[in-house]
Amino acid sequence: MRDVPMFDPTDLRNAFGCLPTGVTVVSMLDDTGTPTGVTVGSFTSLSLAPALCLFSLGKAQASARLFEEGVPFVVNVLSTESTDLAWQFAKPLEDKCEGVALVETLVQVPRLKDAIAYFACHAHGIHDGGDHIIVVGEILEYEHKEGDALIFYRGQMQTPAPL
Ligand SMILES: Cc1cc2nc3c(=O)[nH]c(=O)nc-3n(C[C@H](O)[C@H](O)[C@H](O)COP(=O)(O)O)c2cc1C
Repeated sequence: MRDVPMFDPTDLRNAFGCLPTGVTVVSMLDDTGTPTGVTVGSFTSLSLAPALCLFSLGKAQASARLFEEGVPFVVNVLSTESTDLAWQFAKPLEDKCEGVALVETLVQVPRLKDAIAYFACHAHGIHDGGDHIIVVGEILEYEHKEGDALIFYRGQMQTPAPL
């Protein structure tokens, strides 16, 4: 059997970081039904019909245990005005939503009012992805508006610069 290569995780993360991502906050409810969320850069579109999207979450992340098939969640696309929200939801805070303006959605999980787009989903499938889970969401409702998407590139928040 072929040996699995062992790479330096920091260097591999830096290599992955050569490709910019958008920045989203995935909001969901915790075990007590309280809104919480996690900053996610791995969000991507998947399918138009049916409408599907996906993101990956580290298995060691506290929020990973909240995701199982059918669970509702909302992917909120952050704008360049929302770097504070990106950092807030990337910290292990007791109340991640403290001071955050929230609006109810069809799936009974609140969205972030200041997001430039949101996708309200039910988890369509949870797949194994090494040390991550891959969450595929079926989109039940979405909206988008004007604004510049926040970019994460080489470990830093950036604004999109047109050529
Ligand atoms: C810009 C950015 C993008 C991130 N993307 C991801 C991601 O795609 N998957 C992931 O598991 N963690 C990602 N993280 C890290 C989590 O947001 C962070 O570990 C968070 O504290 C996890 O929350 P939890 O402990 O409530 O699960 C990202 C962090 C930042 C700042």
